[in-house]
Amino acid sequence: KDHLLGIEHLGPDEILAVLDLAEGYVELNRGPRKHADALAGLTQINMFFEASTRTQASFELAGKRLGADVMNMSMQASSIKKGETLIDTALTLNAMHPDLLVVRHPQSGAVDLLAQKVNCAVINAGDGRHEHPTQALLDALTIRRAKGRLHRLTVAICGDIAHSRVARSNILLLGKMESRIRLIGPPTLMPAGIDSFGVEVFEDMREGLKGADVVMMLRLQKERMDGGFIPSEREYYHRYGLDAEKLAHAADDAIVMHPGPMNRGVEIDGTLADDINRSVIQDQVEMGVAVRMAVMELLARNLRRRRAA
Ligand code: CP
Repeated sequence: KDHLLGIEHLGPDEILAVLDLAEGYVELNRGPRKHADALAGLTQINMFFEASTRTQASFELAGKRLGADVMNMSMQASSIKKGETLIDTALTLNAMHPDLLVVRHPQSGAVDLLAQKVNCAVINAGDGRHEHPTQALLDALTIRRAKGRLHRLTVAICGDIAHSRVARSNILLLGKMESRIRLIGPPTLMPAGIDSFGVEVFEDMREGLKGADVVMMLRLQKERMDGGFIPSEREYYHRYGLDAEKLAHAADDAIVMHPGPMNRGVEIDGTLADDINRSVIQDQVEMGVAVRMAVMELLARNLRRRRAA
């Protein structure tokens, strides 16, 4: 592949290739010397048009640990502020010969559009409500390490599905891996036509969690609600917030996930989020660095092959 724009474009073998390569980077990152040279001589530019902690920090660390020259564009201080368009910004940076562009943008489809205008590898770090492919890959690695497999699992994805690119990428990936997906949330936060994705939809949290192996909570994304339905946080927590009582309906060894950032006491109980016997939230963060190293290494291999041809 030339770019990583979405899980939509990946086959099961390509997904497994990323996860297998990432396993080696988990070990490297835990060791005393965190350096490899897969991106030596290459330039990586991170362009984040939306706030980020985990994704931006892990892409920066991943690039540096693999030997790339990494530049974080400060989009708030760029000529975007003077009215320069996304495409003109991308063309300007492209003229400086980057090899990898990592892009987060609030508009769905913006990263695909940008990828058509540049001649380097582009990675989607989250575009609007569309996709967040590296999040789904790091979630898959976390699940595989905790459960030993990705197939024939029951995965409950709970909360604000309608506004979530994380949910969309996970639904696509877990579907390709033949896991059973349940979506749980209020009808107002469920996207229209979601049944066609081969998922089961539940309004009642306890019913949807029954026997689930994996419980993936999502943030209530008020910034994407456009002044529409914004539930009361207290009522939302009562019905859809994950606590020990609701989790008791899932399998005894069910793991609890959340992509972050978390709203403690809104979609998840803070004590449960910190319970290392159930929660793998910090493992997800750790896997994020390894998965992004693997993704960039694989794209760089393809880029070098294309350029050598
Ligand atoms: N999960 C995730 O994308 O987090 P950030 O917004 O902090 O990058």
